[in-house]
Amino acid sequence: MRSAIYYYSLEGNTQKIAEKIAEGTQRDVCRLVAQRSYPKNGLKYFFGGMDVVLKRTPKLEPLTKRPETFDLIVLATPVWADSYAPAIRSFLKEHNLSGKKIILVATTSGGDAGKCFKAMKASLGESEVVGEYTVKSPVAENEKEANAVVEKIRKRLNE
Ligand SMILES: Cc1cc2nc3c(=O)[nH]c(=O)nc-3n(C[C@H](O)[C@H](O)[C@H](O)COP(=O)(O)O)c2cc1C
Repeated sequence: MRSAIYYYSLEGNTQKIAEKIAEGTQRDVCRLVAQRSYPKNGLKYFFGGMDVVLKRTPKLEPLTKRPETFDLIVLATPVWADSYAPAIRSFLKEHNLSGKKIILVATTSGGDAGKCFKAMKASLGESEVVGEYTVKSPVAENEKEANAVVEKIRKRLNE
């Protein structure tokens, strides 16, 4: 089964998890880069939250690999305003993942990712979600816990 990891990360935590999942494998890791910047300070919560609430779909940089070519996709996002990041909305709007198996991964600052997963599943349509995993940020301070979750995801990918 051909698999790949697609992720969005504003501050590097989700990126770290995506890279750990792929570490030592030939698996493709594709970063979603939105043509939309956010303030470095606390205002990012306001502007980012607004983009979520308004269901904005920022333009994405072109992808090197199309997700349509894979059977199993890990889709990783930071939780934003109890939902998923706008770049993921853009990705799901641009690509039809119907019929694919999907593993959802969310990094959070401690909040529950349940609503984020629910929102992602609603946007995924006919895809089959085969796993949901949450990792607490900052990943650098929760390395042990993060590695344990990553190990579970790697096992799931190899089943
Ligand atoms: C705009 C914005 C909204 C956020 N909303 C939430 C939230 O609702 N619940 C939560 O637990 N964390 C929230 N966070 C924290 C991020 O989910 C968390 O820090 C995540 O790991 C960041 O991932 P990144 O470093 O890959 O960008 C929010 C962060 C941002 C920037």
